[in-house]
Amino acid sequence: MARRMLVAGNWKMHGVRSDLGEITAISMAAETENGTDVAVCVPFTLIERAVAAAPGFVIGAQDVHASAKGAHTGDISAAMLADVGAEIVIVGHSERRAAHHETNADTAAKADAALAGGLDVIVCCGESLEVREAGKAVATVCDQIIASLPGTVDPARMAIAYEPIWAIGTGKVAQPSDVAEMHAAIRARLAKEHGDETAANMRILYGGSVKGENAAELFAMEDVDGALVGGASLTAAQFVPIIDAAKN
Ligand code: PGA
Repeated sequence: MARRMLVAGNWKMHGVRSDLGEITAISMAAETENGTDVAVCVPFTLIERAVAAAPGFVIGAQDVHASAKGAHTGDISAAMLADVGAEIVIVGHSERRAAHHETNADTAAKADAALAGGLDVIVCCGESLEVREAGKAVATVCDQIIASLPGTVDPARMAIAYEPIWAIGTGKVAQPSDVAEMHAAIRARLAKEHGDETAANMRILYGGSVKGENAAELFAMEDVDGALVGGASLTAAQFVPIIDAAKN
């Protein structure tokens, strides 16, 4: 199955104008066409400048409102993101689910709004340590992702990111066998709910303390189609080795 790898950076609440040189350097390293898609999702305030700093490179956002417009103080619509040049948006990240009480239904609604506004989406899922230790990780994550998907599940416009919460920003990567099991389970559940073709074409990214040193092992797994990278996406020096691992 020839799914293109996708390596996406998530800058979270990091980055000001003086950091844009990193985006330029990352975009230059990503340029060599090798079957790998690369994107960086920056804070709202940097989107327009990041697009200008890296022409032709995919810049994304980290959240979007479910409504097209309206009285939503402090929120951003898909049309606004597209207007400044964003091409993709992360929805349902565990940090948004935890800190902003976003549910699966909220995530699905945001994904719908993003797609309707012309953005591609990365839909996130992942279990807590408590759920993993209770032996319920696979069932919980499969239910969570199915309930978080947009109404139209088109692998050409979206990717899924599996990010165990306990592996995010902690330096702990999930066991390779656990990653392989989860990604295969998500794909099998997608096949059941949305058909074999959709499942076969859907990119399922791993996220949680991905670094240059562990990326190759993750990318060698059959059902791992790239990564969503937080801390190690902030500098070209750390992010480019991950992109290179996906190309190999
Ligand atoms: P991390 O974050 O790579 O810093 O663990 C991943 C994410 O939250 O997307």
